[in-house]
Amino acid sequence: MADDKLEMKEGCSRRDFLKMGTALGVGASIAGANLSACSEAHRTAPGVPIIKPLETVRVGMVGVGHQGKGHFQSLLKIAGVDLHAVCDTVADKVTEMQGLAVEAGKPEPKGYSRGEYDLKRMCAEEELDLVVTATPWKWHVPICVEAMKTGSHAATEVPAAVTVDECWQLVETAEKYGKHCVMLENVCYMRPEMMILNMVRKNLFGELLHAEGAYNHDLRHWKLGGLYEKEWRVYHSINRNGNLYPTHGLGPIAQCMNINRGDRFDYLVSMSSPSRGLQEYAHKMLGADHEFSKANYKLGDVNTSLIKTVNGKTIYLVHDTNLPRPYSRINLIQGTKGITQGFGDMTHRNLIHIEGRSEEHKWQPLTDYAGEFEHPFIREYQATSTGAGHGGADYLELARLIYCLRNGLPTDMDVYDAADWTVVSGLTEESVAKRSRPIDFPDFTRGIWKTREPLGIIGESQG
Ligand SMILES: NC(=O)c1ccc[n+]([C@@H]2O[C@H](COP(=O)([O-])OP(=O)(O)OC[C@H]3O[C@@H](n4cnc5c(N)ncnc54)[C@H](O)[C@@H]3O)[C@@H](O)[C@H]2O)c1
Repeated sequence: MADDKLEMKEGCSRRDFLKMGTALGVGASIAGANLSACSEAHRTAPGVPIIKPLETVRVGMVGVGHQGKGHFQSLLKIAGVDLHAVCDTVADKVTEMQGLAVEAGKPEPKGYSRGEYDLKRMCAEEELDLVVTATPWKWHVPICVEAMKTGSHAATEVPAAVTVDECWQLVETAEKYGKHCVMLENVCYMRPEMMILNMVRKNLFGELLHAEGAYNHDLRHWKLGGLYEKEWRVYHSINRNGNLYPTHGLGPIAQCMNINRGDRFDYLVSMSSPSRGLQEYAHKMLGADHEFSKANYKLGDVNTSLIKTVNGKTIYLVHDTNLPRPYSRINLIQGTKGITQGFGDMTHRNLIHIEGRSEEHKWQPLTDYAGEFEHPFIREYQATSTGAGHGGADYLELARLIYCLRNGLPTDMDVYDAADWTVVSGLTEESVAKRSRPIDFPDFTRGIWKTREPLGIIGESQG
């Protein structure tokens, strides 16, 4: 447990990167040199490399706990994937994955389980095209950086990083080495979010003005019930106060609002409620003497933030994981012609009102619009994802990433999205610590957001 207190940070800081200014400049201009030849406007950023289509994608998987095991199982099913290597600090988990591969009729991936840094040996020894990580948060950036430095693309679970500096490290490493660095935000591949994005693209809501998103999920049992390896997640609640997990709510909103593609997050303000939930739960479940009952949790139970974009749009974002409550991502999108809101599932609780289509002042179920506005990607591929984690979205996000790599396409979510959606954690921590003062977002794209095209409607045989 002592090793998971978050002080440890691998790799170099933004300052270190700035010291390497010339090297970075060279890397950026090499990547940039290719860009003039490219007709697709959404590629026009040094961190979105143009790559040759890969016939087979050789994957190294790092971290095969709850989420990583699911990814491993999905990757076994995706055409064109060679699951080449698997790494986890727990040797039994590596052996289990090797067994699953053999059971599926695939070659046994090489195993790496000689401690926390064995991923470096994996990256050095294996010829990999893609390293996928589903480890505790503090490892995401060191693993992605190691992957890109050694010639692979990188894909990380959410959130992509912990600190603001780490977000810069991802951007600058991707630019320097000309590699994709993708955050696996599975919510962007969920049915309601995709349908809403499709409706936004078809202008159903008119001009978007406001959105609300959340990660409202009672995680008390997960954080304190010994479910995470070495209970890594609870230490974030002990040591940090802000929105620690912003990307599930924010990612789909950012896509709808064309963030980094015509607009960008400008600044945020954030405040947290008192912290009660984890102490009370620890007392009740673990007894007064347990270290988690005596811990002082910095994380306010409900963190609320407001984000303003450069084009003036507003976003309300919540992180609420320590109290008894049903799940919700809020999923509210509002424009000049209508509004939708829901819980993040596709039940009757997802509602919509569109002027001219809905009865005045009345909600309709979102499902009423599925016939006309189901996202083509979901229409075409959802059946193949049945049984995979999070309603199939975990399979879809990986299948789409592999498809893009095999076809030399830009990835749907790129390193700028990973950095921008994730940096909210560090910025909200700063705002909370400073009496909710406004904190500016860095412009990870350094101005390129002004001219990049919005993400199109993917799907229909994966265009
Ligand atoms: N997108 C989603 O819906 C979703 C859902 C669950 C978890 N996650 C994310 O997935 C990640 C993992 O979460 P989890 O629930 O699977 O946690 P977990 O504790 O079950 O799994 C983490 C795994 O990483 C291994 N590990 C730790 N340090 C390592 C290192 N240095 N090298 C190799 N392996 C290492 C652990 O042994 C463990 O097997 C987190 O980033 C989490 O936020 C995302």
